[in-house]
Amino acid sequence: MNETSEFHQEPVNGEVGGAPASSEQKQALISEEINRRQFLTTMLGLTGSVIGLSLAVPLTGYALSPAMVKEKTEFVPVGSVTDFKAGEPIKVNYSFRKKDGWVDTEVKKTAWVVKKDDNNITVFSPNCTHLGCGYVWDAPSKQFKCPCHGAVFSMEGEVVAGPPPRPLDRFETKVADGKLLIGKLLEGEG
Ligand code: FES
Repeated sequence: MNETSEFHQEPVNGEVGGAPASSEQKQALISEEINRRQFLTTMLGLTGSVIGLSLAVPLTGYALSPAMVKEKTEFVPVGSVTDFKAGEPIKVNYSFRKKDGWVDTEVKKTAWVVKKDDNNITVFSPNCTHLGCGYVWDAPSKQFKCPCHGAVFSMEGEVVAGPPPRPLDRFETKVADGKLLIGKLLEGEG
């Protein structure tokens, strides 16, 4: 009975097909190995770059999101210049949209508008500078009066009587297309 046995011998280092490799064949094997390593290194580098980019894009998006963008002062219209009469302060209601992160809400506020003429309009915060109560305009005396602790302010916002430490706070103002706009609230200076 004939038994045939087959076996396959893997080339060992420095041998090709079981036979000792020539120097040219050795050189070809070394070059092939170097090319393979270079290919793997390049692929690893590319994979790292892709992963880094995929992480960087969402982070950049987050950094530019409304939550991270600093709120800038915007001017808000409170009425037409012709709505106000000289020497007659009037309390106005106004609103604006406020973004707090992803939350967008409408904020409603009030302010006192004091007009002397079309080029001289002052807008005051509605809160007394003592402890923040709302004050009113007293037409007979032509003064603002706070009911909480008896403060009195002139039409220009100066403290006439009572405990407030400083004049009324006022808003930055500007007029555009006949509209009166207010911006940042400035603390009244004593
Ligand atoms: S809060 Fe106006 S006087 Fe005190």
